[in-house]
Amino acid sequence: MQNIVVILGTGGTIAGVAPDGETDLAYEAAQLSVAALVRSAPELRDVPLETEQVAQVDSKDMTHAIWQALTHRVLHHLLREEVQGIVVTHGTDTMEETAYLVQRVLAPNKPVVFTGAMRPASSRQADGPDNLVDAVAVAQEPGAQGVLVVMAGTVHGAVDVRKAHAHRLDAFNSGDVGPLARLDNGTLHRLRAWPSGEPMGVAVVDPAPDTWPVVEIVTSHAGASAGLIDALARAGTKGIVIAATGNGTVHEAIEQGVQRAAWSGMAVLRATRCGDGAILDAPEDGEGAWPSAGALTPAKARVELMLRLMAVAGRR
Ligand code: SIN
Repeated sequence: MQNIVVILGTGGTIAGVAPDGETDLAYEAAQLSVAALVRSAPELRDVPLETEQVAQVDSKDMTHAIWQALTHRVLHHLLREEVQGIVVTHGTDTMEETAYLVQRVLAPNKPVVFTGAMRPASSRQADGPDNLVDAVAVAQEPGAQGVLVVMAGTVHGAVDVRKAHAHRLDAFNSGDVGPLARLDNGTLHRLRAWPSGEPMGVAVVDPAPDTWPVVEIVTSHAGASAGLIDALARAGTKGIVIAATGNGTVHEAIEQGVQRAAWSGMAVLRATRCGDGAILDAPEDGEGAWPSAGALTPAKARVELMLRLMAVAGRR
C-alpha cells in the first residue's frame, strides 16, 4: 500500500531553540531532531511516517555537499513503492534554492514538500508544527506531484516560490503567477496545476561537491564598476549571474566587464533584482543580449546556471 510519508530533516528555525525559551529572535537554528519535530505535532500520531536526519544546519550555511546528499535521499525514497510522498524540513532562508535544485534534478512524479518555520520550536507561538501538519497533508494528497513549498497555509511550486519577507509568518510568495493551492483547516483548495517538467537526472549532481563549478552573483547598481567581475574572471569563476535592474538592464561598467569575462569563457545569466516579475526580452535585444533567467530570483538563477554547466560537463 502506497501510504508512507518520509520526513527528511535538514535543520532550520523549525528545529530552532532559544536559550531562554522566550525570545523569537535570538535563538539557535537546527537544534531539534526531525523525530522531535514530529512528536510536537499530535495530529501526526496516526499517520504512517518515517523520519531521517539528512543534515542539521542553519540554511544560510547550506552546502553543495548537503544538496548532493539530500537529492540522493529524496530519490531513494521516491523509488520506494510504499512511499506516497516526502516532506523536507528546511530553514527558510535558502529553502527556495534547495527546492529549485531538487525540482530541476528530479522533477518528481510524487510530492516532495518543503516546509519550515519563521519562529523557533521553543516559541510560545511556534508556527512549525502547523506547517509540518500541512506539509504532510499535501504529501498525502492523491495526484500531487513535483517539488512544493508549504508555509503559512499556502502551497507554492519550487520554480516560482521566493522568500519575500524577512520575518512575517507568511514570508513566501510565488510572484505574478501566485500559489498552487491554499489549505484551510486541512482542506486543500487547488488554484493551479501541480508542477511537471523534464528531470535533468541525478547524475548531474554526482561529481564531488568541491568540483562543482563556481557561479557567483553580481548585482548591478548605481555607481557600479567592473572590478568585481574582473576579479572573478581572474579567479577562474565559471559562471556569473547578473542581478540586473528592472527588466534586466545592466550598468554599462558591469556590461563591459561581463563582455570581457564572456570572451574568456565565463557563462552569463541575467536575473532581475526586483522582488517580483519576469524579465521580458524585447525582440530588438537580439542575439547579443545575455540570456535571461525569466522570473527566477538571482539566487535560483545561480542554481540554474550551475546545473547547466554541470550538465554540459557531464556530457563531455
Ligand atoms: C534558516 O534558514 O535555517 C534559519 C532561518 C529560518 O529557518 O527561518
